[in-house]
Amino acid sequence: MCGIVAYIGEKPARDLLLEGLKRLEYRGYDSAGIAVLNGGLHQAKTAGRVRVLEEQIETDDSFNGSLGIAHTRWATHGEPSDRNAHPHGDQPDTGHGIALVHNGIIENHTTLRTYLSDHGHTFQSDTDTEVLAHLVGHFYQGDLESAVRQALNEVTGAYAIAVVCANEPGVLVVARKGSPLMIGVGSDEYIVASDASAIVAHTNRAIELEDDTIARLTKDNFRTSTLENVTVTPQMRELEVDLQQIELGDYPHYMLKEIYEQPQAIEQCLKGRLSPHEGRVVLGGLAEYVRELGRAHRVIFLGQGTALHAGMIGSYLVEELAKIPSRADFASEFRYRNPIMEEGTVVVAISQSGETADTHAALREASRKGAMTLGLVNVVGSTITRESDAGVYLRVGPEIGVASTKAFVGQVAAAVMLAAWLGRRRFLSPTEASSILEHLNTVPDLMRKVLQQESHIAEVVAKYVQRENWLFLGRGVNYPVAMEGALKLKEISYIHAEGMPAAEMKHGPIALIDKGMPVVVVATRNSQYDKVLSNIEEVRSRGGHVIAVATEGDESIRRICEDVFYVPDLPEPLQPLLTVVPLQLLAYHAAVLRGHDVDKPRNLAKSVTVE
Ligand code: M6R
Repeated sequence: MCGIVAYIGEKPARDLLLEGLKRLEYRGYDSAGIAVLNGGLHQAKTAGRVRVLEEQIETDDSFNGSLGIAHTRWATHGEPSDRNAHPHGDQPDTGHGIALVHNGIIENHTTLRTYLSDHGHTFQSDTDTEVLAHLVGHFYQGDLESAVRQALNEVTGAYAIAVVCANEPGVLVVARKGSPLMIGVGSDEYIVASDASAIVAHTNRAIELEDDTIARLTKDNFRTSTLENVTVTPQMRELEVDLQQIELGDYPHYMLKEIYEQPQAIEQCLKGRLSPHEGRVVLGGLAEYVRELGRAHRVIFLGQGTALHAGMIGSYLVEELAKIPSRADFASEFRYRNPIMEEGTVVVAISQSGETADTHAALREASRKGAMTLGLVNVVGSTITRESDAGVYLRVGPEIGVASTKAFVGQVAAAVMLAAWLGRRRFLSPTEASSILEHLNTVPDLMRKVLQQESHIAEVVAKYVQRENWLFLGRGVNYPVAMEGALKLKEISYIHAEGMPAAEMKHGPIALIDKGMPVVVVATRNSQYDKVLSNIEEVRSRGGHVIAVATEGDESIRRICEDVFYVPDLPEPLQPLLTVVPLQLLAYHAAVLRGHDVDKPRNLAKSVTVE
């Protein structure tokens, strides 16, 4: 959600910043901007994609300096437009030449705007960010770091910022609270960015800036300090992302690449963690908490979007395998309902990015109320991993596509391992655990088989792609898969889709079914199979066209469905790992056929760092 990149060193900043913006574009892409110091402040900003900005400045020599900041935006305050694009400056007639880029929300911007207006400031944009830029200018007396510190002490909300000032042409000031920011450390240069993808081409050494911390950088030195100006010594770490992982390669879209990476992603996720013949799961991240987790009386999974769907599956698994009461909740709802955290409550935050503001805030609230907190997170070193008591990394590699795919299967696989791990401390026998874990090990190869059906899935999608309303149905552990299938279709193809428990349909939504309406039903052979068949009949008798996801060998289902995607058989708790794959491919092909930009769906951003 907004990407920030900043550079100070000896190389030409423009090319490096533009390259960084392109790598961060999945975080937001409604407008882009850049400011470079080169004998004065030179800025350009525009609504639209980074390539539009690039076209404007690629031959403009005034951007040849080696200190600059840049931004790709996901609008919160103010429509996407040239004037709302970042960087924003301070009051022009002061002559300070301050430029600032920001990710986050300044919550008290209205009060600050009024205060600054009363002091003669006039604003060019509708953004909260411009208010912060003016506030820095208001406090500026020849020391940018000090002005930024004073300004940040007045604001409430979340931010990651990078600031330059024409009066201090060798200084870059950055700061964060609640929005991610890391400093890549090169030799005589620093690249600051919202995430590692804009840094790894230049260095693999980085510092994750802590919340409420400011860094002042020159090309060969930096100092980090708290908002109260106490020096802090940051931890340097090696970035684990390599450049090849974030390149598109021969694929037309990141989403398709990541769908095909799923078998390998699961292999990485499981590697070294399963000992099927002993019925044992080894989760190093939980080792220190064996006793506390052994006493868990309730497990609550929190997440948003796709991560919440994985959490819903997680809650089913924990009840099934560990016999511990469990539920899943929107992190955003949980936080504000004054949740009751009895003793023995374990809260599990699920997140690909580890930066989702709703999930992070809920985790903090649970922790404040005394719950033990775990993170099932993909991005190493992210905020949620740092703030949870313990956790399990997904290890599925970087996910760039805005529509989450391989992270989902990683989240489900991690939830299976967590549930089996908890189960073995309670009622799950070694034999039962062995069986689940042996089957879990077979998932990557079975997924490869499912992926071979891509062209068949594409043909089926072509028949229905003009339909504007779809239903996705499932029961038990496949109900969240139906939700996930509907979310995938909505977010990239803009088709209206509802996911729901198959039995719920007859309590209202069945009224929507008319002749030819596509209804996707996850109907694998499991404990609820017969009931799902009845639900399919209910759809058919009202003229709906059923596309089923069924178990290989189930020929009888063909007789009652228009189209069938087959998946190999697995024990019920593991079925979502396969049943979701045809639904991902369905959504992908629907979006391609409708001519949408699959990797940059409208109005969305990869990492939602505002509440
Ligand atoms: O990074 P997170 O897993 O915390 O993100 C949560 C959701 O924003 C995310 O899963 C979103 O729903 C995806 N775009 C869905 O494809």
